[in-house]
Amino acid sequence: METILSGIRSTGNLHLGNYFGAVKNFVKMQHENNCYFFIADYHSLTTHPTPEDLHNNVRKVLAEYLASGLDPEAATLYVQSDVPEIPELYLLLNMNSYIGELERTTTFKDKIRTQPDNVNAGLLTYPVLMAADILIHNATKVPVGKDQEQNLEMARKFAKRFNHMYQVDYFNEPVAYNFGENLVKIPGLDGDGKMGKSTGNGIYLVDDPKNIRKKVMKAKTDAGPTEMNQTKPEVIQNLFTIMDVVSASDTVSHFNDKYNGCEIRYGDLKKQLAEDIIAFTSPIRERILDIEKNDEYLRTVVKMGAEKARASAAKTLKDVREIIGFKPF
Ligand code: TRP
Repeated sequence: METILSGIRSTGNLHLGNYFGAVKNFVKMQHENNCYFFIADYHSLTTHPTPEDLHNNVRKVLAEYLASGLDPEAATLYVQSDVPEIPELYLLLNMNSYIGELERTTTFKDKIRTQPDNVNAGLLTYPVLMAADILIHNATKVPVGKDQEQNLEMARKFAKRFNHMYQVDYFNEPVAYNFGENLVKIPGLDGDGKMGKSTGNGIYLVDDPKNIRKKVMKAKTDAGPTEMNQTKPEVIQNLFTIMDVVSASDTVSHFNDKYNGCEIRYGDLKKQLAEDIIAFTSPIRERILDIEKNDEYLRTVVKMGAEKARASAAKTLKDVREIIGFKPF
């Protein structure tokens, strides 16, 4: 059994791309592995949220993941700031992280560009905190997107450095967890790559039916096929790709046949697609709205998660402190 860990950004809503990409895989693997999922609220402080936003963002993200099927009994689902062992390990790892290597991280260089007025030390040591998140449970596999691969490599480097420095074989070197063929890539509606890559091309789980219809009807199309059985251009294939995951297979074949016979009316396809997306997201949306209101449930989930996470974290930290040489008098 692998120990799989994933950190969840505490800002932004889940869209269909997230759902069919990572979240659905999380839901599946939580029953097959030792899974840790946490909301990275300490990391979010690098952009200075207001106290109100800080809390509400965590609440929203938690409700969306629970509504999507993360099971707090099966996985360990927690809020990063509920586990004080993480910042302690972060402090310890910081002593063996070098300014030069941190400055060379692409995520840091990006931040210097996007927030030049707020280049704080938390941004510089972001990969160290991320390594602490991972190493605190000695995770073996970490599902990360392309943009986080370098940070994961830093976690491996810090693990290796610690082992070498103290001549121990304590930390695992965590590697990227690849969903393989289970990773469904959902395109955006503007013909511009993946959903979520640019703003306004996404359908969110919390979008209401009216909004979904509006977004789908606005999706880019072309002038229509001119030859029988021609290959679909990207904007059209995108609509079919979304249809593949939300619609019944006979619906997909119906529109495929229409396309191949050059009889397709994109308006009909979009109307059907919008209704099928609504049918798919509506129950999730209702669960999100219910959970968000349910203080008692959220409190129970977060408490249970913190207890499970701290049990594992405390054990690691005790070992690490011993290895480093802290001794009781
Ligand atoms: N940096 C990750 C992101 O922006 C979130 C994250 C924080 C994370 N700590 C982590 C991901 C540990 C994996 C493991 O998406």
